[in-house]
Amino acid sequence: MKSETEKRFVVLANWKMHKTLNEGIDYVKKLEECVQTLEDRVEIILCVPFTILGAVSREVTSSRVSVGGQDVHDQEWGAFTGEVSAPMLADVGAAYCMVGHSERRKYFSETDEVVHAKACALHRAGIVPIVCIGETIDERKRGLTLNKLERQAMVCFDGFSREEMERTVILYEPIWAIGTGHMATAEQAGEAHGFIRHMLERLFSGETASMTRIVYGGSVKHKNVSDMLEVKDIDGVGVGSDSLDVKDFVKIVERSMEALSMKTG
Ligand code: PGA
Repeated sequence: MKSETEKRFVVLANWKMHKTLNEGIDYVKKLEECVQTLEDRVEIILCVPFTILGAVSREVTSSRVSVGGQDVHDQEWGAFTGEVSAPMLADVGAAYCMVGHSERRKYFSETDEVVHAKACALHRAGIVPIVCIGETIDERKRGLTLNKLERQAMVCFDGFSREEMERTVILYEPIWAIGTGHMATAEQAGEAHGFIRHMLERLFSGETASMTRIVYGGSVKHKNVSDMLEVKDIDGVGVGSDSLDVKDFVKIVERSMEALSMKTG
């Protein structure tokens, strides 16, 4: 089993529906040039479109960079036109895959039950699920943020073994912060992350709670990431629009590395 010191800080890029094959490959080349001197304490995860996942993954040479999908079907194979399964993702080099992003929930009606089935399919295929949870602005205003997070966690992680939970990455993304330019404050993120950590302790164990990586996403930019890196319970950041330009994304990686060095020496 991994020790907590081996828990690597996540800097995740969610490219969403962006980048052609050449753009993806060019990005990886530039990214690897920029990060080759950095320590291994930061793990960069590129969540890319299905069409370029295999090619992008073949381009990666550094142990600092992993590649992931943005969605998956919960069945291994079958008559599901247009869908991609977890073994197919593993086959082309995906080490991670996001499930339950709020855009999937909103535009494709994904429920927590669906997210749970997808996360289980990923575990079966040996891919690390990155499970997205988070509240709407209305839920926050009504004081229901923590209830929402608890409800989502109870369904999404239902039946997970401790090992499965420790392998899972939780991406806390308040829906009101995604694509709006309004990143949560350190206090808001700290409250949510602390709550999730405590809940894992209750549902699994203290060790599982400290081993599971809880990552913040929602309007993280190279200009504001330093504020988020102050949060005690933060194990990484998820970046959408500011990950599309490799120069901006590298700044986020560098600032994360600096913040880690300040925290742990
Ligand atoms: P954003 O997106 O950084 O553009 O807000 C984050 C996400 O959707 O994961």
